[in-house]
Amino acid sequence: MRRPLVAGNWKMHGTRASVAELIEGLRRQVLPAGVEIAVCPASLHVVQVVDGLAGSGVVVGAQDCAVEPQQGALTGELAASQLQDAGCTLVLVGHSERRQLLGESDECVVRKFVAAQACGLIPVLCVGETLEQREAGETLAVVRCQLAAVIDAQGIGVFARAVVAYEPVWAIGTGLTASPEQAQEVHAAIRAQLSAHDAEVAAAVRILYGGSVKAANAAELFGMPDIDGGLVGGASLNADEFGAICRAAGN
Ligand code: 13P
Repeated sequence: MRRPLVAGNWKMHGTRASVAELIEGLRRQVLPAGVEIAVCPASLHVVQVVDGLAGSGVVVGAQDCAVEPQQGALTGELAASQLQDAGCTLVLVGHSERRQLLGESDECVVRKFVAAQACGLIPVLCVGETLEQREAGETLAVVRCQLAAVIDAQGIGVFARAVVAYEPVWAIGTGLTASPEQAQEVHAAIRAQLSAHDAEVAAAVRILYGGSVKAANAAELFGMPDIDGGLVGGASLNADEFGAICRAAGN
């Protein structure tokens, strides 16, 4: 049985004051015991959130890490080892906003994935197609390629300590959610691709859906056989809404 994971990606949101409020709101939630819950604040707020959520059962992740695992001369970047030291347990790699807006290549994403694992962090590998690619019928090929970049470079074994997040770019922040069937099709393809290399690893890996997840659509999405939780953007900035999404994953 795969334990569901719901992760909030706060993106470039928050001030110390609003983060403190969000921490308080999260601490008031009744959270399901069978679900792993994480939040990924801006790096600036990681320490505040780690301290604020201590003992709550909610773990903290980062939104990105440097390609180099250890500290060094890399102005503006954060090493996975530093994130681990600050209390993070996971890190997003290859989010579409970074792939698209900051030009992150598959090669760069693979290096970040490796750096994360080298420091004991769980990488959450984000994959997904643009609207143009979906309309051209390229969805499965695009996702296959993004996933293959890691498998080809590192082997299948690394997925025993990783999470995959399918986030169709056209569904991110747009209010357009993939239908449960659309998402399931891609999730099943991801698991089949992993399974072709190692069925046991594939059966255990958690594949999250991301893209306009909210309390109103979470239960339906999480009810699909290969959807093991969510990566939640906007709705994770509201503690009550996020709490409801976490509870949906527990049902
Ligand atoms: P939204 O939930 O705001 O669509 O964002 C999804 C996302 O990008 C999470 O990483």
